[in-house]
Amino acid sequence: MSEASRFDAHEFVEPEGAGADDRCGLCGESRSQIRHHPTRIRAAEQLAEPAEGRRHGGRTLSHEEARAVYDRVGSFQDRQAFYEDRAIDLLIRHSDFGSAHRVFEFGCGTGRLASRLLAEELPADARYQAVDVSPTMVGLAQARLEPFASRARVVLTDGTPVVDALASSADRFVSTYVLDLLSEEDVEAVLNEAHRILAPGGRLCLAGLCPGNGGLSRAVAAGWSWLHRLSPRIVGGCRPQEIVPRLSEARWRVLHHEVVTPFGVPSEVVVAERARGAQVP
Ligand SMILES: C[S@@+](CC[C@H](N)C(=O)[O-])C[C@H]1O[C@@H](n2cnc3c(N)ncnc32)[C@H](O)[C@@H]1O
Repeated sequence: MSEASRFDAHEFVEPEGAGADDRCGLCGESRSQIRHHPTRIRAAEQLAEPAEGRRHGGRTLSHEEARAVYDRVGSFQDRQAFYEDRAIDLLIRHSDFGSAHRVFEFGCGTGRLASRLLAEELPADARYQAVDVSPTMVGLAQARLEPFASRARVVLTDGTPVVDALASSADRFVSTYVLDLLSEEDVEAVLNEAHRILAPGGRLCLAGLCPGNGGLSRAVAAGWSWLHRLSPRIVGGCRPQEIVPRLSEARWRVLHHEVVTPFGVPSEVVVAERARGAQVP
């Protein structure tokens, strides 16, 4: 069994207590073994959730649900620009795309950021690769990136956080407003993948909803989280999250971290350098 599928399987581990089974129902690994992995401890702690939510770290959308939601959203996604663009502008300013040659994007949506990067920021020989779980989004992104077809590739996935790219094959790993809709386990797996495919010194470039930094933005974030708890679909699966605490100092050096709150909607921008020499444990 690959590490990725072992990882998924252990999300079914039952919590300690009355009626708890001491072994994973899928692979039979005992609780004591599973607890060696911090993600699995968290998975075991989250098990007040119903079975379907449990597989994806609580009340986050499953991959299939995310695909259905974003197939429906389609080009309307670009209407989120009113609060996303301030964060995206900052992300671009601090990511030094002018010196990048191999960019990977996780969850490219309509390809709006990619077309801007390819047209205005990246060197003419830079190559871009992206994945997205929604066939509608992949179609929109491919159409938008047609002028750059010789060096841009957008691939449909089943939502797996494990990406089809070689180790150290990228110098930028970009993801905007995607990690905030993934389960805890998928966020961790995506960050692991970013670390794996970035060359030492490469940059992790993230933007997403966050809890806010002032009265209005905190209130907006709290309302957003409330809606998400009510039904993740209402808010496209997204909820405010903090990314920096998830970046271990041994693996990442944060170069820029900033919270912006256009129209009261709080977004976090994080640019981190992949530490040189640090290995995925
Ligand atoms: C809120 S939209 C953001 C799109 C784009 N990055 C942007 O900033 O406009 C989230 C995107 O992530 C994609 N997505 C959601 N879950 C995914 C997964 N597990 N793997 C790949 N893409 C995913 C959705 O299809 C959608 O295109």
